[in-house]
Amino acid sequence: MDITGNRFYFILSYGCQMNQSDSEHYAGQLEELGYGPTEDMEQADVILINTCCVRETAEDKTLGKIGELKHLKANNPDLIIAVTGCMAQEWQDRLFERAPHIDLVIGTHNIHKLIDMITERQAQGRHLLSADMGAPAFHDLPTKRFHKFFAWIPIMNGCNNFCTYCIVPYVRGREVSRPMDAVLEEVKQAAAGGYKEITLLGQNVNSYGKDLDGKIDFAELLRQVDKIDGIERVRYMTSHPKDMNFDAIDAIAECKKVVNHMHLPIQCGNDELLRRMNRGYTVEHYMELVDYARKRIPDLVLTTDIIVGFPGETEGMYLDTLEFLKRCQYDMAYTFMFSPRTGTPAARMDGQIDQAEKSRRLQGLMDVQNVYSLEKNKAMENKVYDVIVEGPTKNDAHNWFGRTTGNKMIIWENDGTTAIGDTVPVVVDKGQTWVLKGHLQK
Ligand code: SAH
Ligand code: SF4
Ligand code: F3S
Repeated sequence: MDITGNRFYFILSYGCQMNQSDSEHYAGQLEELGYGPTEDMEQADVILINTCCVRETAEDKTLGKIGELKHLKANNPDLIIAVTGCMAQEWQDRLFERAPHIDLVIGTHNIHKLIDMITERQAQGRHLLSADMGAPAFHDLPTKRFHKFFAWIPIMNGCNNFCTYCIVPYVRGREVSRPMDAVLEEVKQAAAGGYKEITLLGQNVNSYGKDLDGKIDFAELLRQVDKIDGIERVRYMTSHPKDMNFDAIDAIAECKKVVNHMHLPIQCGNDELLRRMNRGYTVEHYMELVDYARKRIPDLVLTTDIIVGFPGETEGMYLDTLEFLKRCQYDMAYTFMFSPRTGTPAARMDGQIDQAEKSRRLQGLMDVQNVYSLEKNKAMENKVYDVIVEGPTKNDAHNWFGRTTGNKMIIWENDGTTAIGDTVPVVVDKGQTWVLKGHLQK
């Protein structure tokens, strides 16, 4: 609270874009209650931590952060601390035992309950938990978007795939597609509100519509979204190689606003390991999709996720993954060490690999991928790319940055001629492993 009695909220979001989107729905509810945003935790009357539990490191980071809040609560007993999201769903009331200064724990299907829970907490002074998963996945909730030009649009919630390492299906529940009308309506509103780029979100966007009536699928959704005036770019996250198909690739290729960036997680480059991960495709099937996508989508930017150290991963299997990186030549790979998650089949599998070996494999993987990341970015030198200006970089206010349709980040020296949200042409001067340097084309 400030001296004039204004009340504030502070939201910290971990995890994937789905959590970012949920955080915007939490923020929308807090604003409806009369709270305003603050960057200063000490000033906040509500602190909400939206959590992820996909790997142990994510949980450790969150528990550390929750610990840091203890003194704020001691100084201000009226402060409300809410822990939400996937880790809240997984831990439920164990979070109160771990950190008694938490006021509210809200699971992934109870986002809409925030206002009632804050009111009840203030009236009754008890901890409150809401984590049943029976509630509908989508609600008509107030939204406070965190960006002015980029909008997250959830198209589905949950996951049915049960990859053997993954906790997401347990904490997000079964796949539910959001009705297409609701998606299109939200995109239209975003367009009317001046948003230039939207990202269609789901754990497996390629299975969109399987639970809806009629012939609605992801390709059809893309085609409908593409028709909406006012939006410049349409992104989508995340694709699954089991459900991605040629028709969806055709739609991506044909729809002018749909970007040339595809994130298609392979996880590993060995069929036996893919089978044990329950991924539902082979390396060859994956490669067929990539070959077709590269044929249909000029300048395709391809990124992926890879896990090393899955139980039973032999040196030979690991080398298959390295070979696959060479074969597929990704623009970038997000690389992870297998993290056993309680309740998932892989956590109980034989052949768990020790930490030192996982680290070695991760390093080896990054060493190989970095060669291709650099090569791909160098190939962009002396070419011109349109970027949407995002503003100054974190480290240097003179350097501004934006992203290409392929989601590559380009940095240039700001000369005051562009504004945040402008779409401007930038010439790439230097491609580096993680980022590109350039200058505004005059
Ligand atoms: N739904 C998305 C990704 C969700 S999680 C998809 O299927 O592609 C994002 C990434 O985290 C996964 O692609 C996987 O590479 C990684 N991941 C998930 N569970 C993990 C675990 N237990 N240990 C290490 N990495 C994991
Ligand atoms: Fe997890 Fe697999 Fe579902 Fe992705 S597809 S969220 S990795 S279970
Ligand atoms: Fe994490 Fe939940 Fe996303 S576990 S990756 S925040 S769906």
